[in-house]
Amino acid sequence: MQLLDGKKISEEVLNEIAEEVKSIKDRGGKVPHLAAIIVGSDGASITYVNNKVKSCERVGFTSTHIELPATTSEEALLAKIQEINNNPDIDGLIVQMPLPAHISADKVVQSIDPAKDVDGFHPANVGRLALGLPTYVSATPHGVTQLLKRYQLPTEGKHCVVLGRSNIVGSPMSILMSKNTYPGNSTVTICHSKTKNLAEITRQADILIVAIGKAEFVGADMVKEGAVVIDVGIHRLEDPSKKSGFRLKGDVKFDEVSAKASYLTPVPGGVGLMTICSLLENTLKAAKKEIYP
Ligand code: GUN
Repeated sequence: MQLLDGKKISEEVLNEIAEEVKSIKDRGGKVPHLAAIIVGSDGASITYVNNKVKSCERVGFTSTHIELPATTSEEALLAKIQEINNNPDIDGLIVQMPLPAHISADKVVQSIDPAKDVDGFHPANVGRLALGLPTYVSATPHGVTQLLKRYQLPTEGKHCVVLGRSNIVGSPMSILMSKNTYPGNSTVTICHSKTKNLAEITRQADILIVAIGKAEFVGADMVKEGAVVIDVGIHRLEDPSKKSGFRLKGDVKFDEVSAKASYLTPVPGGVGLMTICSLLENTLKAAKKEIYP
């Protein structure tokens, strides 16, 4: 089994982005600028946003980090988004999810200018993805395709089984793998909580992409010998023997499945690290007006 090393590949991608930003600066061009809004003080969300801002600095982007109290009204948040939509210096805007219960995530996503929606969550961008038009692909599915591409894994004519149908991962992932592109051109099956005979289907997968959100759900009995297995899950499991008090696990039983898979992503160090690269790639595209000229 060979590891699909998200750490190594994400470093490569970040270095490439940094080089491009340097050449943009040298030419006196527009330095990409990402704004991130966080509402409230959810611990994991703060860590994610801090990592995104840090990565912006590392590749030479400008970033603006906006922290709003959990009591912020929906109206005030929408006004802030409007202000950023109208600010020509800001190329990309993300609003960290989840939002407090009194704010409609749908309304928020739909209020972001699609040209600045570097998360790729706006219906206009999801629609463009479905139609195969240039778009901002959301970070996790894009990160998965980049791993497949950088390891030059064949996807054409393969049976790709996607476990999970969320709007953020499973659904766009299944669309990307079915398109007439590379990576893509796979025969795609989507499985979800109502799927019958799940293991029978996953055992047919040449490429198994697991985004089911349940720790260590996929064992060796669900995997075909020689399959490529991509684990999108990330879970904190309590472990008093660790200084942090927890250890990170994916949706796949790594030890069991590593004995059967030809390629496998570790958790941590797999897909997770690729997602920030994808966000930065989208922000670069936004600054270059590649999707919405
Ligand atoms: N919360 C968890 N993942 C994401 C993401 O990719 N983007 C945003 N905005 N919030 C998230």
